[in-house]
Amino acid sequence: MIRMIKFSPAALLLGAVALLAGCERPPIDSVQSGFRGTGMVQVYNPRTMAVQIPQNQPPAPPPPAAPDGPKAKDVFQNVKVLGDVSAADFTRLMTQITAWVSPKEGCNYCHNPQNLAEDSKYTKVVARRMLQLTQHVNNDWKQHVAATGVTCYTCHRGNPIPANVWFKPVERDNKSNFIGDLAGQNLAAPSVGLASLPYDPLTPYLKEDKPIRVYGTTALPTGNRSSIKQAEHTYSLMIHMSNSLGVNCTYCHNTQSFSSWEGPPQRATAWYGIRMVRDLNGDYMEGLTKTFPANRLGPHGDVAKVNCATCHQGAYKPVYGAKMAKDFPELLTFAGSKNVAAALPPPLSEAMRSVLYFDVGSAVLQGEQAKGLAQLIASMAGDPKAVAVISGYHSAAGTLDQNQQLAKQRAFTVRDSLLAAGVTEARVKLEKPQSAEANLAGEDPAARRVEVKVSN
Ligand code: HEC
Ligand code: HEC
Ligand code: HEC
Ligand code: HEC
Repeated sequence: MIRMIKFSPAALLLGAVALLAGCERPPIDSVQSGFRGTGMVQVYNPRTMAVQIPQNQPPAPPPPAAPDGPKAKDVFQNVKVLGDVSAADFTRLMTQITAWVSPKEGCNYCHNPQNLAEDSKYTKVVARRMLQLTQHVNNDWKQHVAATGVTCYTCHRGNPIPANVWFKPVERDNKSNFIGDLAGQNLAAPSVGLASLPYDPLTPYLKEDKPIRVYGTTALPTGNRSSIKQAEHTYSLMIHMSNSLGVNCTYCHNTQSFSSWEGPPQRATAWYGIRMVRDLNGDYMEGLTKTFPANRLGPHGDVAKVNCATCHQGAYKPVYGAKMAKDFPELLTFAGSKNVAAALPPPLSEAMRSVLYFDVGSAVLQGEQAKGLAQLIASMAGDPKAVAVISGYHSAAGTLDQNQQLAKQRAFTVRDSLLAAGVTEARVKLEKPQSAEANLAGEDPAARRVEVKVSN
């Protein structure tokens, strides 16, 4: 028996409408930025722009407060980051922070109204670290944020939780059934613009620092160690970046060669952006994991993290490049590290192990800590067979590069003191810290240390 399959014209039409719904409705404007035929063109949809532009208008800054007068640290009790700001500016910023982060909830979102100095709410502890994060971005990541800078509003826009944050997603483990390992693909995830690409490009590239570039650097194919699968991960990240900024690939790339740096300067800005995001996630957000209540963490118990969309929110420059930060000079300098200094723990001197602590930004041992060093020298001198293995550590505040240098410098201080005291070079070894424990939350004095393991 032969069966006829009948198509009704209405069903066909419906199918076509369903197919087209995925595409953008006209009108579309395009702006060419290269020669004809090279595909160097930006596509804009005026409808999208009309919605976005009003959403990206920053609130007007309050009038400036008196910069002189008593300092916040002299007027208030528990001010660790903004101590050197005038009390008037401090109060102005508190009002502004409330408008940026918790306009509905008010001051009490972070404060116990009975005692503003108390740190009982986790939100206040997070906010203090956020002050440092903001200062750090404005001060140390000028290659990305230029003089425009960021404020709390850049990410928060009147919400306690920024609209765009991410957690490590739950893996779909199909290894044991016939589908096999999908490598995170074919799931039409919103994170990669519903393309059938790996859905988690953020963990390897914006938290870890896995290599993004996949082109070979030699003429021979043997010079390229990257697989097609790696390229798919790179493409996933690129789609995240394009979506976050509301631009096409050609905003950053020369279409003749995606690996070439001879193209739009925006690619270099983006390169720094990737490094900045890794730094913020590693040095700031991760350190807050224990501060957040469990219900605010992701499925893997990880803290909410930053990606390109956290600041950009669909615009090529966040808030269309509005220069908000300049009205808040206290957010432009990274005062954090100096003010948060707390008393150092006493040095630890045991037969097999010494721990010596350092002041913020310092590689010099003073006072009690110098006595701890003297004890170490004495014990090494008393045991000619003993070998010292020295590792330097740093705290989380500041830039990672500088901190790693500082940690090394601290280890050198101890090594050089031992050598100067006549301990032979063969008995003094340097070792890089093996764990990431180095980066404890904030300016924790216990993190700024050198550990010495002594063995025979
Ligand atoms: C988003 C969180 C947040 C909001 C909202 C907020 N504050 Fe604060 N507040 C902080 C942080 C963080 C500190 C500590 C700053 C530091 O350590 O440098 C602080 C400190 C203070 C202090 C100093 C208390 C002391 O004696 O140590 C006062 C006063 C204060 N805030 C007033 C206010 C007022 C008034 C409002 C509402 C208009 C407000 N804050 C809203 C986070 C917040
Ligand atoms: C680079 C983007 C960024 C900037 C700038 C930023 N924040 Fe945040 N903030 C985040 C992220 C990401 C989180 C984590 C989201 C969450 O709470 O789950 C967060 C969380 C918070 C929370 C905790 C909210 C909650 O209920 O859990 C507070 C309070 C906060 N930020 C205050 C501030 C203040 C105050 C500033 C400005 C001094 C600021 N933030 C600047 C990204 C940012
Ligand atoms: C906001 C700027 C930006 C946008 C938009 C962007 N890229 Fe990229 N792309 C970069 C940067 C920066 C790198 C290099 C990353 C690194 O080395 O850490 C890169 C690297 C690449 C590479 C690897 C090149 C190599 O040398 O191996 C490919 C391929 C690529 N991008 C494709 C794309 C595609 C396809 C799109 C559009 C879907 C796109 N990019 C959109 C900035 C961008
Ligand atoms: C902490 C907030 C923040 C985050 C996170 C962030 N950016 Fe930016 N970005 C900015 C600011 C602010 C500017 C504007 C700088 C200026 O005015 O020149 C900017 C500018 C840019 C530009 C230059 C635009 C132009 O036309 O000159 C590119 C490209 C860019 N960002 C890409 C990225 C990418 C890609 C990521 C994620 C890897 C990212 N940004 C993450 C704050 C951020």
